[in-house]
Amino acid sequence: MKPGVSSARLCLTAFGLTSLQLLSSVAATAIPPPSGPYHVGKTRRTIHHYYDHDPLAPNNVSTAFLATIFYPTAQKPKVPPQPYLWNGIAEYYENHWNYTQGFLQSLTSVVQYDAPFLEGSVGQSPFPTIIFGPGGGGPPVDGNTILLSELASHGYTIIGVDHPFDQPYIQFPNGTAVVGTAWDTWLTSAHVTPIYETRVVDNRVLLERLPQIVEELNAPINTSLIGSLGFSLGGAGAVGSMYDEKIVSGLNLDGSFWGRTAANDSSSDVKKPVFLFGQEGHLGGDPSWASFPLWQTGSFRYLLVNGTTELDFFDNTFWRLLEPNPRLGGTIDPYRMINITNAYVKAFFDLTLLGRHASILDGPSGEYPEVLWYDKHGNQYPLT
Ligand SMILES: *[C@@H]1O[C@H](CO)[C@@H](O)[C@H](O)[C@H]1NC(C)=O
Ligand SMILES: *[C@@H]1O[C@H](CO)[C@@H](O)[C@H](O)[C@H]1NC(C)=O
Ligand SMILES: *[C@@H]1O[C@H](CO)[C@@H](O)[C@H](O)[C@H]1NC(C)=O
Ligand SMILES: *[C@@H]1O[C@H](CO)[C@@H](O)[C@H](O)[C@H]1NC(C)=O
Ligand SMILES: *[C@@H]1O[C@H](CO)[C@@H](O)[C@H](O)[C@H]1NC(C)=O
Ligand SMILES: *[C@@H]1O[C@H](CO)[C@@H](O)[C@H](O)[C@H]1NC(C)=O
Ligand SMILES: *[C@@H]1O[C@H](CO)[C@@H](O)[C@H](O)[C@H]1NC(C)=O
Repeated sequence: MKPGVSSARLCLTAFGLTSLQLLSSVAATAIPPPSGPYHVGKTRRTIHHYYDHDPLAPNNVSTAFLATIFYPTAQKPKVPPQPYLWNGIAEYYENHWNYTQGFLQSLTSVVQYDAPFLEGSVGQSPFPTIIFGPGGGGPPVDGNTILLSELASHGYTIIGVDHPFDQPYIQFPNGTAVVGTAWDTWLTSAHVTPIYETRVVDNRVLLERLPQIVEELNAPINTSLIGSLGFSLGGAGAVGSMYDEKIVSGLNLDGSFWGRTAANDSSSDVKKPVFLFGQEGHLGGDPSWASFPLWQTGSFRYLLVNGTTELDFFDNTFWRLLEPNPRLGGTIDPYRMINITNAYVKAFFDLTLLGRHASILDGPSGEYPEVLWYDKHGNQYPLT
């Protein structure tokens, strides 16, 4: 499959027009579609949980967080592709990163809201489940749709967690929106550890409630074989959740470590397959990426992608392809980066959850020379 920017015109009928703005047709661009055998559905659930050590919530009390679930479906997309970001989040990044007004709002995806689940018994699936944590201060789970829909198209169910006020904007299923601004204004590294702890607590609650959530969804979601994944602060949270016995393996996309994961002693050992996958800058530039590897006794991988910055590890790498800005990513070709991320993340979970061997995880690969391999001491492996 050759990915390409497919353009479509959203055709609006006279029915349901609510504003003059809708009378003009809007040029819509689809993000790269997933490559797997399944179509992809997406649904959301509010997870109620009282937590009184939340550094970002009013009076430090939060009462709920949001789960966004990507899953395989047999249903073909019927309608033109749908916008895939909340307007509130699209506008935020348009302003924050100088993208053209309306640009992110016009991006679409083939992911289908509330599509039917595959046939199967409730709580059971041959495919594993992966919990996902987004970056601190954004973007929320939806901003990682290229990767998460790719995994879902291969059968995985991904449950992403957005925490109110941690994200610039989220919208609960009941329509209530929560705008968070903390990371723009006052956040320092001293604040980050308690926010990281909040992520780990959310993941714990999600794992405890998983059987009940799956029951309520009436869905064939695997409740016993679970991996963890996250980007940036969510990557640290994904690894921090590996001390929970329910998690089998974990992958951190470019996230600095906090809390127990940053301890630089044997307490940080997750004793399970763990994969650090990040930008070049982590080598020598992040003490936590120097210390965490030293203590790992399980299967361990430390790979950096040459020519990337943090902003290439989520959908922004595609956004910047359409509206180039050297401040918003590295020198790597965005399509190349999407291929690399999709390939390595899928290979890791295929290997560690399903026991499927993937040669790209054996060592440096001539097929992906941009992916540089390091040992626990930060020494690069030669390309074989
Ligand atoms: C909320 O938590 C933060 C960080 O832990 C703390 O600095 C702040 O004093 C707390 N605020 C309240 C109202 O308890
Ligand atoms: C956006 O524009 C402002 C004002 O020109 C500039 O200071 C800022 O660095 C730009 N940000 C990015 C990500 O391009
Ligand atoms: C989860 O997936 C694994 C691997 O396919 C399978 O062995 C296990 O029975 C599944 N568990 C559930 C509860 O479906
Ligand atoms: C919607 O749900 C959120 C999360 O539970 C809650 O904070 C909010 O008050 C609810 N909004 C309404 C209008 O009920
Ligand atoms: C971690 O601890 C080791 C000794 O146990 C020390 O050599 C190293 O400098 C420490 N790393 C950091 C980042 O503090
Ligand atoms: C990273 O890419 C640059 C530009 O292609 C190249 O010059 C450099 O040697 C690469 N670095 C490594 C460590 O392979
Ligand atoms: C990405 O992967 C697809 C499928 O293997 C391939 O056709 C395409 O050429 C790749 N694109 C880049 C830029 O590597």
